[in-house]
Amino acid sequence: MAKLTLKDLELEQKRVLVRVDFNVPLQDGRVTDNTRIRAALPTIKYLLEQKARVILMSHLGRPKGKVKEELRLDAVARELEELIQQPVKKINDCIGPEAEAAANALQPGELLLLENLRFYPEEEKNDPAFARKLAALAEVYINDAFGTAHRAHASTEGVAHYLPAAAGFLMQKELDFMGKALAEPERPFVAIIGGAKVSDKIGVIRNLLDKVDTLIIGGGMANTFLQAEGHAMGKSLVEADQVPLAAELIATADKKGVHMLLPRDLVVAQEFKPEAAHQVVAVNAVPEDWMALDIGPETARAFANALAGARTVVWNGPMGVFEMEPFARGTEVVAQAVAAVEGLTIVGGGDSVAAVEKMGVADKIGHISTGGGASLEFLEGKALPGVVALTDK
Ligand code: 3PG
Repeated sequence: MAKLTLKDLELEQKRVLVRVDFNVPLQDGRVTDNTRIRAALPTIKYLLEQKARVILMSHLGRPKGKVKEELRLDAVARELEELIQQPVKKINDCIGPEAEAAANALQPGELLLLENLRFYPEEEKNDPAFARKLAALAEVYINDAFGTAHRAHASTEGVAHYLPAAAGFLMQKELDFMGKALAEPERPFVAIIGGAKVSDKIGVIRNLLDKVDTLIIGGGMANTFLQAEGHAMGKSLVEADQVPLAAELIATADKKGVHMLLPRDLVVAQEFKPEAAHQVVAVNAVPEDWMALDIGPETARAFANALAGARTVVWNGPMGVFEMEPFARGTEVVAQAVAAVEGLTIVGGGDSVAAVEKMGVADKIGHISTGGGASLEFLEGKALPGVVALTDK
């Protein structure tokens, strides 16, 4: 890695400010999915072992620059305490006298968690004065928040200009896995892109068309490609304004020799409801007032076959409305096929991660990204501001 990582730094006794992504789901004051907290543990434990004084900071939700009681980080502090089996001091501010006093009182091997950074509008504005106040709490800065690395905010970008700035283990791992897949993939390299909208994935598809051998397209966004192929899609979700672009992407794939796989059959339903009447039809036989909610069995088999010999796989976005049992089969077959691949497999994006977890194959995936938007922007080939700002080696 061209940037400093935490192993490059002398950390003993130092006050270390660590940006983590503890933007986790909460319900009734409890963390309902602690994946992102667990993912940050290797960095936190390493810093504590080095006898650093560890100051953690994160955003939670989108409070838009105002204090929102339900978005305080107290529940996160309790969850972290349970996971790490050591006290976590949580305060109610992230800058100012309370934060300064707490940072100064911190002993080597102790942990402090600051309050939600986004209670200040200056965080998202990447305000230099705010970044300087954060930096003043510590002597070293570590960014382990891969999930927020696509944001140029004060805690992810600004602060790196005022302290020696290094990547944490999670950041490093995410960049290594995804960087390797994009830069030097073992072939065949197969990407599976799904989800509802083409408009969210255009950048990713364009970038991947330069790199992959096979591009599989499923999920709601496939409808727009099928319409571009001339099929009538009934009541299915189609982004009419993206149809010409879908046609262009099909032509580009052809020109570049990329094997683009689109659905050949679909599970269509009369309504967007789990109990709706549904049937399997060919893509050229979607009834006028029915909608596609999953890929069909023939398509799922074809996608699984295309994955069978792959050596590198990147998957982003489900194949259908997998949250509803009758429309989960396509995503399930693809999840099983990805899990069976012997090469490097990477799953990114909230929905596809939820899918591999629901299907019980998460432990068979090489790398599950903690980044939704961040992993998408990385796959688009964009530089992530939170990474660019780190100190060069
Ligand atoms: C995420 O959940 O994708 C990150 O924590 C970033 O959150 P944001 O989209 O609110 O910036």
